[in-house]
Amino acid sequence: MNSIESQLSDWSARAFREAFPGEDLSVASIGVSPTVDESFGDYQCNAAMGLARILRKKPRDIAQAAIDASGSHPLIAGVEIAGPGFINITLNDSELAGYLENLQADKRLGTPQPGGGRTIVMDYSSPNVAKPMHIGHIRSTVIGNALDRMYRFLGYRVIADNHIGDWGTQFGLLILGYRHFLDRDSMERSPVEELERIYVKSYERSQEDEAWRNQARAELVKLQKGDPENVALWEKFVGLSMSEFEKIYQRLDVSFDVVNGESHYRDCLAGIVDELEEKGHAVESEGAMVVFLDDLKLPPCIVRKSDGGFNYATTDLATIRYRIEKYHPDAIVYVTDERQQLHFRQIFAIAERMGCSSRMEHVWFGLMRLPEGTFSTREGNVIRLERLLDEAVTRALSIVRETSPDMSAEKQEAIAEAVGIGAVKYADLSQHPQSVVTFKWEKALALDGNSAPYLQYACARIASVRDKYAERHPDVDPSDYPVRLDHPMERRLAMRLVRFPEAVTRAANQFKPNILAEYLYEISQAYSTFYQNVPFLKAEDGVRESRMRMCILTESTLRLGLNLLGIKTPDRI
Ligand code: ARG
Repeated sequence: MNSIESQLSDWSARAFREAFPGEDLSVASIGVSPTVDESFGDYQCNAAMGLARILRKKPRDIAQAAIDASGSHPLIAGVEIAGPGFINITLNDSELAGYLENLQADKRLGTPQPGGGRTIVMDYSSPNVAKPMHIGHIRSTVIGNALDRMYRFLGYRVIADNHIGDWGTQFGLLILGYRHFLDRDSMERSPVEELERIYVKSYERSQEDEAWRNQARAELVKLQKGDPENVALWEKFVGLSMSEFEKIYQRLDVSFDVVNGESHYRDCLAGIVDELEEKGHAVESEGAMVVFLDDLKLPPCIVRKSDGGFNYATTDLATIRYRIEKYHPDAIVYVTDERQQLHFRQIFAIAERMGCSSRMEHVWFGLMRLPEGTFSTREGNVIRLERLLDEAVTRALSIVRETSPDMSAEKQEAIAEAVGIGAVKYADLSQHPQSVVTFKWEKALALDGNSAPYLQYACARIASVRDKYAERHPDVDPSDYPVRLDHPMERRLAMRLVRFPEAVTRAANQFKPNILAEYLYEISQAYSTFYQNVPFLKAEDGVRESRMRMCILTESTLRLGLNLLGIKTPDRI
């Protein structure tokens, strides 16, 4: 199935090309987009204004020429030129209704698979072992996973790779700290919290105690040389942290195809630096090996420190090399907080010099403020994230108890888990990723605003209308009746439902899950005005069935969309 927007875009592009053969029309977009104001029609094309200069004609004349050349299209009922030269298109109602009927039979709701099996490596979440998991990692997990789901849906082969920070200088401090500060009871009770405590204590001591610093470095060197005792400790730390992360991922319904931490690349680092040196990209400077990026107005990037150690950048270069050789990706996408923008600009530039031709994209986001007290001592570590999720679920439980008082306690709890986790995720996903957002319980859990519970609740209410209908009309299948768009609110909802493919595609292409979230919210609003303003189960035969079909299509759109955001939609709330 081809979406309405893409069919109309093809039609309008062909019209412009026919009206102006041989001209370069690439300066303007000759496709269509939904109108901002529905009184102007359903879709519009703004190309005439953008082409005026290059064609040396008045925009209105250009628009007229395109329309004259266009010929008719079954989907279109009327075309009009408005204002300086907009082409406004109104759809044919019965064609629109027919399109909706087909849409209902299509699990993908008309969405094509432009990915065509091409590979994207997605690097997200990527927390650090035994260091506090900060809010950046949580946002990275939630946003990265939503993009992961959308790209898979669009037909890409996604390799989700969790680039765990398991091979850094923190291990020298940690091993040394472990030998001095370990509290066995705390270790029993809450190992990762204890590791973090040890790390922080050891780090603080290193700030004022040079001998401590040196000892930590010596432990790190021992680890790097394969000293069995230090290697065993390192493995223990990694294992403990990983199982803690795993719990969170399970609750968040996030999974990875590969978990190659930084340690996976440790034997390739020297080779990368040698290669950079041989090809003349890196030079020695004050004892370190450095890549200068002055021509790009970027600060130099150290790839080997003067003490011979490699760093974060070196590891990322080795990682790019590995991923390209192993997966031949079309693109590698990194999702981290804003503080790593410079790092990625540098390594992308260096990778390009090394001959890497895959597209590389850094998707960055602003930090999120969490509710007062949730992360009071140190910034959001894993344990406290768990607490945030627990609190969300507890709060959701009281909502579910209100909306479904007759449900079994067990069921209420299962639903509360989906609603609470959904609320936390959606609070993040519904914001422009690059804005600074403050997480507020009231907003995240609101049953009447742009929130996950609101959308989940909308799905559940539709499901119950569907059940009521089936109870009263057990022998009727609404799909045997045509879709009719008699009421303006019906038509308005229809116009939104057909735009699902573009919402997903735009959200993925622009790396902005909030585009999809906004779309779903709009759908649920259009549905609720429709539902409140037209008779439904009481409507006459045929009309009732048509409305039922609209209902079902709304439900599938909301469920599929929320699923692509990683949000569960229970049947009842
Ligand atoms: N572990 C890093 C951090 O916590 C994030 C890693 C992002 N991915 C990467 N390939 N550099 O800051």
